[in-house]
Amino acid sequence: MAKSDLDAFKFDQTEVVIDASKKVRIGIIGTGWIAGSHLREYLKMPDVEIVAGADLIPGKAEKFFAENGVEGAKCYPSHKELIDAGEVDAVSICTYNATHAECAIYALEHGVNVLLEKPMCVTTEEAVAICKAEKASGKILSIGFQPRFDNNMKMVKDIVQSGVLGDIYYIQTGGGRRHGIPTPFGTTFIEGDKGVIGALGDIGCYSLDMVLNAIGYPKPLTVTGYVSNFFGKDPDYFVSEGKPAEYADIFAVDDFGAAFVRLEGGIILDFRIAWAMHLDTPGDTIIMGKKGSLRIPSTECWNGTIGGPLKLYQRIGGKDVETEFPMQAPLEEGCFYYKIRSFLDAVKNGGTAPISSKEIIINQAIIDAINKSSKLGREIEVEIPEI
Ligand SMILES: NC(=O)c1ccc[n+]([C@@H]2O[C@H](COP(=O)([O-])OP(=O)(O)OC[C@H]3O[C@@H](n4cnc5c(N)ncnc54)[C@H](O)[C@@H]3O)[C@@H](O)[C@H]2O)c1
Repeated sequence: MAKSDLDAFKFDQTEVVIDASKKVRIGIIGTGWIAGSHLREYLKMPDVEIVAGADLIPGKAEKFFAENGVEGAKCYPSHKELIDAGEVDAVSICTYNATHAECAIYALEHGVNVLLEKPMCVTTEEAVAICKAEKASGKILSIGFQPRFDNNMKMVKDIVQSGVLGDIYYIQTGGGRRHGIPTPFGTTFIEGDKGVIGALGDIGCYSLDMVLNAIGYPKPLTVTGYVSNFFGKDPDYFVSEGKPAEYADIFAVDDFGAAFVRLEGGIILDFRIAWAMHLDTPGDTIIMGKKGSLRIPSTECWNGTIGGPLKLYQRIGGKDVETEFPMQAPLEEGCFYYKIRSFLDAVKNGGTAPISSKEIIINQAIIDAINKSSKLGREIEVEIPEI
């Protein structure tokens, strides 16, 4: 490929200018594992006041702030009391998946801007209700897909959007871990009434976002889905991981999901995701187009990062040509910083959501359709209502 063509791809690093005179009052709803990552980034921002936190577990929010050296933040027993107090401009919703929708809707209905952790929620119906509340509120709702800010991830989109692949007709994506059912500080990821969706919602949503964002989030038309839980229901799996065998009794979500998805525009999406498997990787991500194809190497621990240089395959002048894109250096501040910063900027400047619900509702609808199709044992049609 000629240098001028390569120069057409743009890998800009986000430039940050902060107006510290205008403060954003933040509340953190759900003070578990991921809340720590939100708080650490907020504490770097000169235009943020951490004013409140909430958790259903008594004393957890108080301990969270004490451990992180935050003084003066008020603590509440649930999202409702925090929002009813009327002291926040915006909230980070860091609860387990089951309560994403109720917390987000309550906040938006009360005029509070929302940064909502991924996955957006657990069903399409919930995603629709969240989007309706967002529209009625006129507030910012951004969904927490921090890999979007990674320079290598941006490169995937830049390459696809440059048109170098031509019309895209087939995508294979997904990934997984050999032994990676997450039970870091308890079992909320694997409980049916808390996590609700497993590998699909934890890491599958990132894998879908990588390719769907690159191709402009076309709507799904049909989905044939399959989910299983062979590892999560096996006590020996947890024992071999140094965890209690009883986790297998608690386990009530998917640890593997696969799907064949027809997207608008005649694109086929072949997807698989695993929290655990007897395999190193279920394969690289590939995006196949009529003029070229792109290979995105998988990682050992799929979490929205890229495992090696991207490779573009073309035929030029009767020759098969492969172009390797060098890996971009990680962002100095890390993707999480930009996830928080971009949300704050949108709140302060009345901008648009950095990670829009208009896109992520499609991601959620595919995940939901995989579960529904798997239960029915057949292909289903997907309809996402206009909001
Ligand atoms: N972006 C990322 O990299 C990333 C990483 C890990 C987890 N997550 C997501 O973050 C979310 C939370 O994961 P976690 O591991 O921190 O879970 P966790 O179980 O450690 O923490 C969740 C907390 O939310 C509280 N909670 C639930 N409903 C509540 C409500 N209505 N009001 C107040 N508190 C409430 C629970 O009591 C719990 O303490 C999940 O949706 C997960 O997918 C994102």
